[in-house]
Amino acid sequence: MTENTTELTIIQPDDWHIHLRDGAALATTVPHAAASFNRVICMPNLVPPVKNVNEAQAYRERILQSLQLSSVDAERKSAFDPRMTLYMTDHTTVKDIEMAAASGIVQAVKLYPAGATTNSADGVTDINACVEVFEALEKYNLPLLLHGEVTHDHVDIFDREKRFLDDVLAQIIIKFPTLKIVMEHITTSDAADFVLAQSNQVAATITPQHLLFNRNHLLLGGIKPHFYCLPILKRESHQKVLLDVATSGNPKFFLGTDSAPHATHAKESACGCAGCYSAAIALPLYATAFDSVGKIDKLEGFTSRFGAQFYGLPVNESTITLVNSPMQVPSSFDYFDNHSLTPLMADQTLPWSIKA
Ligand code: NCD
Ligand code: ZN
Repeated sequence: MTENTTELTIIQPDDWHIHLRDGAALATTVPHAAASFNRVICMPNLVPPVKNVNEAQAYRERILQSLQLSSVDAERKSAFDPRMTLYMTDHTTVKDIEMAAASGIVQAVKLYPAGATTNSADGVTDINACVEVFEALEKYNLPLLLHGEVTHDHVDIFDREKRFLDDVLAQIIIKFPTLKIVMEHITTSDAADFVLAQSNQVAATITPQHLLFNRNHLLLGGIKPHFYCLPILKRESHQKVLLDVATSGNPKFFLGTDSAPHATHAKESACGCAGCYSAAIALPLYATAFDSVGKIDKLEGFTSRFGAQFYGLPVNESTITLVNSPMQVPSSFDYFDNHSLTPLMADQTLPWSIKA
């Protein structure tokens, strides 16, 4: 890593949790992701979801086709490698897992408790019925990625992650001690502490919004729908702990943007969708967060080494350079069907940018 007051060159990052969507949306989301990231783990919550290898293969081809049609430069086109996930349902079979492990394109299996978030209606309704599938994941060393929130109506939205750790994840880990697990997009000090207390089989991704913001940003002075995502932003004390662990150099914590596009009108609505769009500006956002606590030297491990290590993949060979020179986040991007897409921190100025 070379560093002076103005430039920071790091190994090309990977995004271990992204929503690219499908169809015409890919024309926006794929070039944005490919500009910064080599490998991206593509979340499977399409409608209908990506449930088996055939569907994952077809989805991957649509992503790559969209990349080829885009104006992304040739070098980035050849580096971009979408890694696929299967959406675990009550009907996922051991055979599905065997085929995924043999496919070479499926990197992990994603578990959404039914009803937890956007497009999770087909998610798992009873974790206790998943024993054979978990055993197969363990056998084939395929990680289980968790949307870690309980969904019972009576559990407060701010407590859903902690309840998942206590009531669900602790049990999974006791029963399947060698299963590789990623708690996706952690939002609380409870989750950070929980992950720290486990073996190296258990890791976590952290989004830019959970490092930079807390629930005051979402709710004070008027509701800001572009800060609404799930799991929801928590209080500032949690944000501080997330920043601590992300910038600690501990390889259990790595980059997963959870960039989750919803058209502007669907977010700025009486019943706004959950998800922050960050793909195009994710690296400047993370750099801003790390720099805010004087830890820019810890950025590269988090963005470019620890995730690859966890997944047993080689670290990328190319590099990308960030500059300590301000950028203005666009107010919106064009999105399919003449819609617009408002990014996280639209119209704001970030102190870091990507060198052209
Ligand atoms: C994601 C989406 O829109 O697909 N939304 C979000 O708020 N994060 C789903 C998810 O990852 O929970
Ligand atoms: Zn997500």
